[in-house]
Amino acid sequence: MSKVLVISNTKKFVQDSLKEAEGGHDWFHILRVYTNAKHLLKSEIANPFIVEIASLLHDIADSKFHGGDEEIGPQKARAFLETQPVEQGDLDHVIKIIENVSYKGGHSHSHFHSKELEIVQDADRLDALGAIGIARTFNFGGFKNNPIYDPNIPADPHQTKEAYKKSNSPTINHFYEKLLLLKDKMNTNSAKVIAEKRHNYMITYLDQFYKEWNGEL
Ligand code: ADP
Ligand code: NI
Repeated sequence: MSKVLVISNTKKFVQDSLKEAEGGHDWFHILRVYTNAKHLLKSEIANPFIVEIASLLHDIADSKFHGGDEEIGPQKARAFLETQPVEQGDLDHVIKIIENVSYKGGHSHSHFHSKELEIVQDADRLDALGAIGIARTFNFGGFKNNPIYDPNIPADPHQTKEAYKKSNSPTINHFYEKLLLLKDKMNTNSAKVIAEKRHNYMITYLDQFYKEWNGEL
């Protein structure tokens, strides 16, 4: 069976698994990350098969939606890939990427690095920025029933991983706790350029948000 078939089987598996997913972490998020990753591959030297499979499987079972369990995503991905004709080295590499792609408030203790991880991570982070990033963030905030904004609750960009994960602070705070920090965390040069544009769009958005909040007509 060819790599093309493995990719198409993975697409079907992911689309089916994410049927009930929250709107910001659904199949369309995966599709955008996959498209971003393929774009970044054009200017990077990396194994495209690993990047494509890992970007498709990277949110197969996000710990946020599984009681904080960080093992379940990699486990589900491994169980699926073991049904596919994928070489052991490739399978292990994809799992390492899934284990390490997440932001988690900027706290990662892993020493695993690869160009393929860098690409998938950038592709995922790009989808946290710009107009889509704003939409996903308010969708998640609504899903958690968090307030949109509360001027009395300051953002905390340096919070611990645990505090970041269980935060119920206003959604606007998430811009300062994560989204606006991402442009300086991009790995690849092509992602840096796209991130800068999307970052500036969010700054403009926040500026308008505060104007309207403060009663400017
Ligand atoms: P990663 O998938 O890189 O680990 P997260 O899962 O923390 O990153 O965030 C993915 C997206 O989910 C964010 O970009 C944001 O849109 C949304 N999100 C996560 N946490 C929050 C939050 N506390 N408030 C609002 N949106 C959030
Ligand atoms: Ni993602």
